[in-house]
Amino acid sequence: MRVRQMAGAVGAEIDGVSLTADMDAAQVAEIRATWLAHGVVFFHGQDLPPAALLGVARRFGTPVEYPFVQGIDGFAEIIPVLKLPHERVNFGGVWHTDTAYLDAPPMATMLVAREVPDAGGDTMFASLSAAWAALSPAMQAMLRPLRAANSSARADVSKTREDRLRDSAKPGAPTQYEALHPVMRTHPETGRPALYVNAGHTARFEGMTEAESAPLLEFLFRHSTSPEFTCRFRWRPGSVALWDNRCCLHYPLNDYHGQKRLMHRVTLAGDVPA
Ligand code: SIN
Repeated sequence: MRVRQMAGAVGAEIDGVSLTADMDAAQVAEIRATWLAHGVVFFHGQDLPPAALLGVARRFGTPVEYPFVQGIDGFAEIIPVLKLPHERVNFGGVWHTDTAYLDAPPMATMLVAREVPDAGGDTMFASLSAAWAALSPAMQAMLRPLRAANSSARADVSKTREDRLRDSAKPGAPTQYEALHPVMRTHPETGRPALYVNAGHTARFEGMTEAESAPLLEFLFRHSTSPEFTCRFRWRPGSVALWDNRCCLHYPLNDYHGQKRLMHRVTLAGDVPA
């Protein structure tokens, strides 16, 4: 297995690995250690039809269903992340961590590329551990006791789901979720602190109005996506990303109007942020 770090703060490409459900335990442990060190790991050239994708995902955690969109035929835990040539908005096209509005948001997301545009459709990632570490001690001290409300109904992120809700909405899904989480969370495996707010879902600080919260949240959203904390991944069919939602943001770029992009996504159960 060869590891190539992609940028200063986040991301590593791994090659020399074929992802399969029956990888030996030492290989899974090596991939997991690399993932924990870099926040997101990438693989190319993987042959992962849906059953195989779930089999690999289960080596890293427990697949869970996405609350709003139905899974693909026969696989409730795999959702399509799709943009069709006539659509203008891409799914999840805001900086975010996945479903941070749940009480126990997913630990990780595994995304495999099925069809990608000729150019564009890259995904960016940002390290929330690096973002936390770069804040001044006084700002850290102010943020440490705060909690923030994370909502599924923020306008920017809601509109990125509309195309898929039209054709693949999950019947009976609640219309809205909201969860309070600490603004600084400690990674349960590495012990590293991370800033835990995101532009897609974080609406306000506990006990404050949205208007009162906005100036500081806007600063934190901008700070956490500073270029120094990011990397950018160019997909090919068969590429896989495995990212850690406890310490990374991601942002899929919407720069390929007129072309199709199809990915399959599995999220893995996580704990309550603390
Ligand atoms: C997502 O937010 O899960 C989608 C990421 C992507 O399409 O690259």
